[in-house]
Amino acid sequence: MIMVDSLPRPTLIDFHGVSMTHYFTSNWEKIQSFQARPDDIVIATYPKAGTTWVSFILDLLYFGQTTPERQTSMPIHIRVPFLELDIPSLLLSGTEMADNLPTSPRLIKTHLPVQFLPKSFWEQNCRIVYVARNAKDNAVSFFHFDRMNKVEPEPGDWNSYLQRFMDGKMVFGSWYDHVTGWWEKKQTHSKIHYMFYEDLIEDTGREIDQLCHFLGLSPSVEEKERVRGGVQFDNMKKDNMVNYSTVEIMDSKISPFMRKGKVGDWKNHFTVAQNEQFDEDYKKKMKNTTLQFRTEI
Ligand code: A3P
Repeated sequence: MIMVDSLPRPTLIDFHGVSMTHYFTSNWEKIQSFQARPDDIVIATYPKAGTTWVSFILDLLYFGQTTPERQTSMPIHIRVPFLELDIPSLLLSGTEMADNLPTSPRLIKTHLPVQFLPKSFWEQNCRIVYVARNAKDNAVSFFHFDRMNKVEPEPGDWNSYLQRFMDGKMVFGSWYDHVTGWWEKKQTHSKIHYMFYEDLIEDTGREIDQLCHFLGLSPSVEEKERVRGGVQFDNMKKDNMVNYSTVEIMDSKISPFMRKGKVGDWKNHFTVAQNEQFDEDYKKKMKNTTLQFRTEI
């Protein structure tokens, strides 16, 4: 049994033009040859965009009624495997966990940029739910996550971190490339449902309705209300099966996984100068896309 504290923090590597760490590339052949099933549902995000929130919503929609014991006994990372994660001797790899899932549909999480998604998901025409979050809050959330997650590279101080975020030197690469890459793909691929964290905060019920429409689900009004209530931040924060408090590689004492759950927390982190520089750079990087984000609601 490997001790988490003996795992050194990884360093970033350039992996086919995308910054990654070996924890997400060492199993590459198995990831790329992963066999999808037509009813698999992929939850794709840039890290810290609301992956766990949407994973829990989908898990409740599909299994909340039929197998409620999942919710009380299986941590979310077991219910919804993280496809590319590979920390040998600590956990089964994401591909093995997905292969072993007994339920149907399988809910599978990934942070891969669109060009890296295993081709079987496209061949099987699987439904994909992509969640995006505005860059400023996403960067802040990622910074605190990297502080508390022992298998992430050392974050350093906030100023240098923000610079690296702008340079795309983050695990899973550039936020700008990730959100726009999936957005472009969505324009020609009808099986991608592109959601925004800010919309979920604004009206979770409306977003659940849209998700159900995309997935072809028709839960009762009561059931939808149960899901909406169950996935509220305060409920998830105290639920050990979704708040990652049972996961050894994360140190909630440094920063909890369910940290703030707000739109606009970036204002507590960005200096005026950082904000101006960020906005100027953002305009250049995002000038060729129709994708729009809200940094406050
Ligand atoms: P913060 O760090 O800003 O609080 P991911 O699951 O992709 O890693 O994203 C984690 C982020 O989503 C964290 O953001 C977390 O608090 C937030 N989050 C998770 N569940 C949420 C919920 N029910 N409501 C609002 N935010 C939520």
